[in-house]
Amino acid sequence: MVHLGPKRPPSRKGSMADVPRNLLDQIKAFEELFTVDTAKLNEIVDHFVSELKKGLSKEGGSIPMIPTFVMDWPTGKEKGAYLALDMGGTNLRVCEIILDGNRSFDTIQSKYHMPPELKVGDSEALWDYVAECMEAFIASYHGSIEEVEKLHLGFTFSYPCTQYAINHGILQRWTKGFDIEGVEGKDVVPMLAKAFEKRNLPITVTALINDTTGTLVASNYTDPSFKMGVIFGTGCNAAYYDTLGNIPKLEGKVSLPPDTPMAINTEWGAFDNEKVVLPRTKYDVQVDEESPRPGQQCFEKLISGLYLAEIFRLCVLDMHDCGLIFENLDVTAFRKPYCIDASFLAMIEMDPFENLSETEELFLTKFGLKTTEPERKLFRRLAELIGTRSARLSACGVAAIAKKTGMTEFHAGADGSVFNKYPFFRERGAEALSEIFNWPSKKQKDHPIKILPAEDGSGVGAALIAAMTLSRQERGEKVGFDVIPTD
Ligand code: GLC
Repeated sequence: MVHLGPKRPPSRKGSMADVPRNLLDQIKAFEELFTVDTAKLNEIVDHFVSELKKGLSKEGGSIPMIPTFVMDWPTGKEKGAYLALDMGGTNLRVCEIILDGNRSFDTIQSKYHMPPELKVGDSEALWDYVAECMEAFIASYHGSIEEVEKLHLGFTFSYPCTQYAINHGILQRWTKGFDIEGVEGKDVVPMLAKAFEKRNLPITVTALINDTTGTLVASNYTDPSFKMGVIFGTGCNAAYYDTLGNIPKLEGKVSLPPDTPMAINTEWGAFDNEKVVLPRTKYDVQVDEESPRPGQQCFEKLISGLYLAEIFRLCVLDMHDCGLIFENLDVTAFRKPYCIDASFLAMIEMDPFENLSETEELFLTKFGLKTTEPERKLFRRLAELIGTRSARLSACGVAAIAKKTGMTEFHAGADGSVFNKYPFFRERGAEALSEIFNWPSKKQKDHPIKILPAEDGSGVGAALIAAMTLSRQERGEKVGFDVIPTD
């Protein structure tokens, strides 16, 4: 993906003079489809707030709102060496983090490729591969396994997991294109522990965490003004701290004072699965229907990096199939689902040339497609519309949590490829937030709620949560339900 340039691309206003009428009409149609105006943003936020509350209720709703059993804010004094493992989409990352007790840390890390076939393969092969990578990591940094003492691991497993304790997590369902049989409905911790045992690895899974929870804790550790952790990457999700008194679904399960903090992994990607409020186009419907889990993660499917380019691809193909573009060209290569990713859109948006010659090159080299300049202008506008919709809808989630909790001034720590690399995502998100709250100043620096780059959640965050869990356990405090179900 390209990195953010310092300036916006040249204004596209006025550059449409040479675009023929039929393509201009198509641009207009896309503008209508993909634009989310302020009134709609507010309607979405209102519904979002009630869905967040519903998710915490006994009846539940479509947003899972998972209590994570992270029940302390970091103090900054956490100390010691911890392992962190992040089983994300593309890579497997293993780190050793040394927390120095003074809001700072040192990290060593290795990344291992996650073979795509493992994502749709068999469960045992997945866990064995993870254990193999951990073994390689320990061997390279600690020498022989036999000499290593017990290591505590913070395991970042960024999929919706029901947790009845910090070191348990029953996978509700795979998201982000993963589809491995035999894991949904089961606790993933014993599966990983078994794979460690097979290799005699002296590792205890001390905490199972979501990337958003890690991001929240890591960001708050380095700067306490951070009160929310958000991921805008392959998937999209957020975590924040609520209090036990606001979580009716834990009544009778955790007997602690109502003001006890509890980090909530919202899993807001599932917002509006019941399709009440989000502006879904026919392309979004198709992306959903052709995904491994239709009807799930409806909010995420409009926002996250995995789907943005797919929406774009379907729009482009639709125009071709209607005879509007790519006349007499063979689009076979472009018909392959997910053949482009969000970096493709980012490159189109960042093309610095008025005739969009980089975009021309992109279509030509990747797909053998010779584009005309008006077609490219249409593509650029389309990418801009899809990217802008994603950023504006994302802001609705942040605004909804702010409204639900009553937080009016704070920082949200954000991470993920879309946030870090998609052009203007931050600016567009900030603009939407400002419209939702009707802030007088349009300048981001004056905004009371800012979405800013986060500290490393799945490394430092995971280590911190492992450290915080051990301290709780040493103090004899709860890290799960009063009675932990055995299943
Ligand atoms: C998906 C996962 C969620 C994760 C997010 C970002 O939404 O379900 O657990 O936090 O992606 O990685």
